Amino acid sequence: MNKVYFGSNLKMYKNIAETISYLQELQHKTADLSREELSLFIIPSYTSLPSSVNAIKQQDIWIGAQNMCWEEQGQFTGEISPIMLKEIGIDLVMIGHSERRHVFNETDYVENKKVISSLAHGFKTLLCVGETEIQKEYGISKEILREQLQIGFHGVTSANTSKILVAYEPVWSIGVNGKPAEAGYAEKMHETIKACLHEIFGKEGLQIPVLYGGSVNLKNCNSFITQPSIDGLFVGRAAWNADQFNILIRQALKALKEKDHLQ
Ligand code: PGA
Repeated sequence: MNKVYFGSNLKMYKNIAETISYLQELQHKTADLSREELSLFIIPSYTSLPSSVNAIKQQDIWIGAQNMCWEEQGQFTGEISPIMLKEIGIDLVMIGHSERRHVFNETDYVENKKVISSLAHGFKTLLCVGETEIQKEYGISKEILREQLQIGFHGVTSANTSKILVAYEPVWSIGVNGKPAEAGYAEKMHETIKACLHEIFGKEGLQIPVLYGGSVNLKNCNSFITQPSIDGLFVGRAAWNADQFNILIRQALKALKEKDHLQ
């Protein structure tokens, strides 16, 4: 079985105390799961980051930031720089979450600057991609994903691939009004993403984990994780209770092992 990735973005939920107790419970509940088999990461609010890195062992749970400015310092009121995040000691930076793109109007070109800066500062860098509902209806999902990847990783070399993760999150599948993708549809999009990463980075591109996200829950997680091109799950609401996330992780791992056993 290849390594499996599980992550959650806490968005603008949970205060500092809630985040710490969530992280500690998750660390405790998943302590027996080998980190050779899985990587687990949580992306809390900025205000919770300093306490989060001290509250748990980052070998067990990587801590990530939800966004980052590409510049180290300057006249960028309200932004957080890579130097500031380095000082806190986090592991990962998420770039281009659907809400950054669609609520805050970030473009692929801005995501590219952030990706380059995040990698230059040594962070694991998670680029999120996904098509909107109308793009899906017009049959251009694959073209949109290719564009987001080609621009998002423009100027990035294959020497960086061990630090890169990609999350495929169709915009129409995310959040309370989202509907989860069909697992077969998600698999096709993951195949497109992997083919594109291969084009961009050569064979090293195939080492980049590609996670599915968007209304993942206990009922549908097995159908996603057992697809050959899905390397992990990026979970929102269904992960914000540590006990529930632990159950979901174990169930998905079990489904994968059963699948591997049958092959
Ligand atoms: P959701 O969120 O699982 O609550 O749909 C996914 C995400 O935004 O990453």
